[in-house]
Amino acid sequence: MERSGAWIEVRGLRKTFRTLAPFRRRETVALDGVSFTVPPFQVTAFLGPNGAGKTTTIKVILGLVLPDQGEVRIEPLGVAMGVLLEGVRNLYWRLTALENLIYFGVLRGLSRSQAQSRGMELLSDFDLAGHAHRPVSTLSRGMQQKVALAVALVNDPPLLMLDEPTLGLDISSALAIRARLRQLAEQEGKTILITTHQMDVAEAVADRVVIINHGRVVAEERVDELKRLFQRSDLELILPAGEWERAGQVLGQFPHRQLERSGGRVRVRFELPDLAGFYDLMRAMAELRVEFERLAQLEPKLEEIFLQFVGIPRPVGAVGGAGQLGG
Ligand SMILES: Nc1ncnc2c1ncn2[C@@H]1O[C@H](COP(=O)(O)OP(=O)(O)OP(=O)(O)O)[C@@H](O)[C@H]1O
Ligand SMILES: [Mg+2]
Repeated sequence: MERSGAWIEVRGLRKTFRTLAPFRRRETVALDGVSFTVPPFQVTAFLGPNGAGKTTTIKVILGLVLPDQGEVRIEPLGVAMGVLLEGVRNLYWRLTALENLIYFGVLRGLSRSQAQSRGMELLSDFDLAGHAHRPVSTLSRGMQQKVALAVALVNDPPLLMLDEPTLGLDISSALAIRARLRQLAEQEGKTILITTHQMDVAEAVADRVVIINHGRVVAEERVDELKRLFQRSDLELILPAGEWERAGQVLGQFPHRQLERSGGRVRVRFELPDLAGFYDLMRAMAELRVEFERLAQLEPKLEEIFLQFVGIPRPVGAVGGAGQLGG
């Protein structure tokens, strides 16, 4: 396989939608100067709240929406792209799943027999072999989604643009697709851009994330680097309820949340701003000779990092009663 992979560069995209609402003109600034890169052989997750501008950006990249300003560079020129657009399952509903794969495979240059064998292979990868000969209109929504994804992959394109590929899929299907996407990037040298609202999906598949909010890119970073940057000294402490009652007045002065009580134990998560806070807490625990069952440093979750970028405040010092204590 050629080792110079496909990539995309997006520079300074601006797009304002003008719609004629009754009695007034509405303008929506969908993209407000969007720039980022989708490097080769990697999965880039394009994240952002509803209405942030993800689908619009993808449509601009695909040439389906004309930007007011900015440019998109796709290398190599004319490279084949596998596309899954949000909510649109680009399938012929009266054709069977396999017929769709053959149709689109042939349309994109495969021979009929190539398209058929590749199509069957993809259908069985996605656990749909038994449904190959059913018309798409009779399949469930999740099955249709998987057929649409298979169609995007049928001609083995180097570049994949997938808008919410795991939306509405059951757990095992979503896991299979996550694994497949990793394999496509790592072993088959694909370049992949996906959008998702499922942070576990982004966390599991993405090498990099681009976070967009109100039409602007607010972060573009490798996932491991992002986690390193956001590495705070967060600690999880599990201790007997009696100990928390005794020491809680002092320990509770450190920023904390997620107080859980069950089975005579309390779980507290301390969110310490820096190393100094960490040492202060350790000193306080030592002075009080606090007995505990578990004390562990926590890795920041992509979800929390995302929320910091898009500015949704997270509950601080929230006290919740319900929930089970983990082992
Ligand atoms: N054809 C259109 N006409 C008018 N406004 C539009 C059009 N398409 C998108 N918009 C607006 O542009 C903004 C960005 O929409 P977009 O679909 O790109 O968001 P998104 O990030 O994909 O959101 P979601 O997570 O909900 O899919 C929104 O305010 C949306 O209402
Ligand atoms: Mg969208």
